[in-house]
Amino acid sequence: MSTTNTNNTPLASLDEWEDDLLRRYPDPETIATSKTTDEYRNYEDPQRDTVKEFYRLNHTLQTHDFVMKKRADFLKFNRKEMTVWNAFDFLNQLVDDSDPDTDLDQFQHLLQTSEAIRRDGHPDWMVLTGLMHDMGKVLCLFGEPQWAVVGDTFPVGCAYSDKIVYPEFFKSNPDYDNPTYSTKLGLYEAGCGLRNVTMSWGHDEYIYQIMKEHLPEEGLYMLRYHSFYAWHREGAYEYLTDDHDKKMLKWVKLFNPYDLYSKNPEPPDWTKLRPYYETLVSSYLPETLRF
Ligand SMILES: [Fe+2]
Ligand SMILES: [Fe+2]
Repeated sequence: MSTTNTNNTPLASLDEWEDDLLRRYPDPETIATSKTTDEYRNYEDPQRDTVKEFYRLNHTLQTHDFVMKKRADFLKFNRKEMTVWNAFDFLNQLVDDSDPDTDLDQFQHLLQTSEAIRRDGHPDWMVLTGLMHDMGKVLCLFGEPQWAVVGDTFPVGCAYSDKIVYPEFFKSNPDYDNPTYSTKLGLYEAGCGLRNVTMSWGHDEYIYQIMKEHLPEEGLYMLRYHSFYAWHREGAYEYLTDDHDKKMLKWVKLFNPYDLYSKNPEPPDWTKLRPYYETLVSSYLPETLRF
């Protein structure tokens, strides 16, 4: 990905979306420090405009029809077959960015997430979930635009919640005026369960589909819904969920702080960690994964 700021790539890097998540959901443990608070409150930050433009595109173009086409295409998994380790190298080609000296590569974010989970003594499948959770961003390397890879996710085929960030941009989405898709339930039945709901297309659903035979249900929920902030942070769309979703919600909530708040300028010592992760990966995952 280049840093050229064309209409389709408003973000200088995918990290800008994640920086914005930190502005919206600052770490409760560090919010008290003045430096952090100032950073979060900086409304003059030019990144806010690029993030806004990013969401304008995302909310306008993620239609039900768009999602169905992406699913039909990408869920064939006919693009690449790689070992997990080659997949991390591939993903790391995404290290781009306006500020390459201070930003850690994608693998470091994954490793910091998984290490924070491991430090707190959670089960090994959750450590692996942390390690894999953003692997779906390889979609960018298959030529997909930023707005179809990252950003908060939301159900398509029913009315949009005003709990989604920048809800006003949905007015430009063709589904907004579609009589089938614009009612509260749209294509769905009340309490049908999120597994029956089509989510906007991006890196969450893609990595869930790649991993769905290999992790326990709790880990799969963490992968599939980690960017569904309207649900796991704002409590929206309860009317689409069933008892199973309600049980799984606490796992998605447990995962979220590790994703958001584990970033640290100090990269983990991979040479030391490697034997642990090689054993972990080979105990859950096959020799290669298909993308
Ligand atoms: Fe993510
Ligand atoms: Fe992440």
